[in-house]
Amino acid sequence: MNFKEYIRDVQDFPKQGIVFKDITPLLNNAEILEKTTDALLNLVKEQKIDKVVGMESRGFFFATLLATKLKAGFVPVRKKGKLPFNVLSKPYSLEYGEDALEIHTDAIKKGDKVLIHDDVLATGGTAKAVCELIEELGGEVVQCNFLIELDFLNGKDKIANYNVDSLLHY
Ligand code: PRP
Ligand code: MG
Repeated sequence: MNFKEYIRDVQDFPKQGIVFKDITPLLNNAEILEKTTDALLNLVKEQKIDKVVGMESRGFFFATLLATKLKAGFVPVRKKGKLPFNVLSKPYSLEYGEDALEIHTDAIKKGDKVLIHDDVLATGGTAKAVCELIEELGGEVVQCNFLIELDFLNGKDKIANYNVDSLLHY
């Protein structure tokens, strides 16, 4: 299955010089959506996952689908100020900008086995912050799972202590 056929490059979005990987054609196609979910699931080696953590916003799509398949709970990590209950917060830097990521303090229990999913691993700043949030709550990050990894940005180096598996590489 050539998933890359369903990912479109958009030049200069969201700003000059950035080539945006648009996954909406892949989400739009029922058959490809299911096949992508299954392929992401195949990357998961650990049998017992307690929680799947997805990052706002593009990480939510497949993280929730993976959670149902793994019979795990889903935990959203959101950008600053979006989660209503008690939060743990972590500043981070992005390929384009700065922000903070937050998680509910009761979302992860001590010893939970956690799978992280996001659509893209770029510089690794987002994933690193999320791993730290999970560990500060006592969870164990068993794998970081990505749909797309931008190899030339070396994001893997920032999360070198974790198992990183990506379905597609550019
Ligand atoms: C994008 C992408 C990843 C992150 C990767 O999200 O969806 O979450 O950047 O970048 P990094 O590896 O350099 O940290 P973005 O923050 O643009 O927001 P969105 O998912 O809400 O569109
Ligand atoms: Mg994102």
